[in-house]
Amino acid sequence: MTKHTDSMLPADSFRDQTIVITGGGTGLGYSMGKYLLQLGARLVICGRRTEVIEKAAAALIEETGGEVLAQPCDVRVPEQVDALLQAALARFGAVHGLINNAAGNFICPTERLSYNAFHTVVDIVLRGTANCTLCFGKHWIAAQQPGAFLNIITTYAWTGSGYVVPSATAKGGVLALTRSLASEWGKYGIRTNAIAPGPFPTEGAWSRLVPPGMQNAFNPTQRIPVGRYGEHQELANLAAYLLSPFAAYINGECVTIDGGEWLRGAGQFNFLEEVTAKQWEDMRKKRV
Ligand code: HXC
Ligand code: NAP
Repeated sequence: MTKHTDSMLPADSFRDQTIVITGGGTGLGYSMGKYLLQLGARLVICGRRTEVIEKAAAALIEETGGEVLAQPCDVRVPEQVDALLQAALARFGAVHGLINNAAGNFICPTERLSYNAFHTVVDIVLRGTANCTLCFGKHWIAAQQPGAFLNIITTYAWTGSGYVVPSATAKGGVLALTRSLASEWGKYGIRTNAIAPGPFPTEGAWSRLVPPGMQNAFNPTQRIPVGRYGEHQELANLAAYLLSPFAAYINGECVTIDGGEWLRGAGQFNFLEEVTAKQWEDMRKKRV
């Protein structure tokens, strides 16, 4: 029987395609890259820490036998983003897709944030995504070549969330960017989509977003209707699908993959989960 952690797409779905993943040396970026390599893609990963991406590239090559270029790049710096594209072109000849996955985040009451703290997160998430999008989009348009953007956002891009306000502000901007360019650049054969993941355990997110001693507050069986965290392969399947030609008619969409988490928090009467079977029966009898 098919499992949710199985590989979804046919083998070779990404043969002769080069995909660039920002922040591809760790966490979800690494997992998406690994799956794309298994599907035949050539991969470029970037991040600020050279040793992290080089180690990741070696591990990915070892695990999949694929071709990986690790290019140090701070997405906040346009010249480094230009160099990322040039390095990818020099190594593989063409680029077919970009996953804007790099992010910075931490929890903090907003009134405790310095100007620089706020700007740091917005610069990585929104300005970094904009830098990469402008660079790769202009290249595809000039080369008269189709391309696909996939932006990794979060579900609080549209609900907002306290304590991660710079991230929520920036991810909301990336959602607007996604929808805007889907319309404007569709005519060039460039598709722009997004994924809004719920909680998927990664070292990067967990180390910054879970206060010491509060692990139980994030108990998935209470917060997430399907009762568990996401598995990396589930996200990788969705990402690969949205980047692939199978999704050629999907443009401007943001697909939520969170087990129903944000709707659990939003629905006014969802707290009634707490009501027992006996209480329901008593209410029915009394017509309450
Ligand atoms: C208050 C903080 C802070 C904190 C940093 N700052 N951490 N302020 N509380 N916990 C402040 C610093 O004091 C400084 O301001 C400013 O932010 C910049 O900090 P630096 O450490 O100098 O910045 P930098 O080295 O560029 O690091 C960026 C970072 C860091 C965002 C702070 O955490 C990072 O590198 N993150 C990358 C990976 C990441 O965040 N992964 C998680 C993504 S998870 P001053 O004024 O002192 O100079 C995610 C998922 C969300 O997005 C949804 C989950 C369900
Ligand atoms: P992660 O492992 O910390 O990934 C973040 C990556 O971004 C790191 O590899 C980091 O590498 C890179 N990065 C940060 N700043 C950068 C910069 N200025 N330039 C280039 N690269 C930079 O965390 P993750 O959980 O996998 O998150 C991946 C994506 O998923 C993010 O967009 C995040 O917002 C999103 N997301 C995650 C979850 C979750 O539950 N995990 C939920 C919702 C959304 P360096 O530090 O070496 O630069």
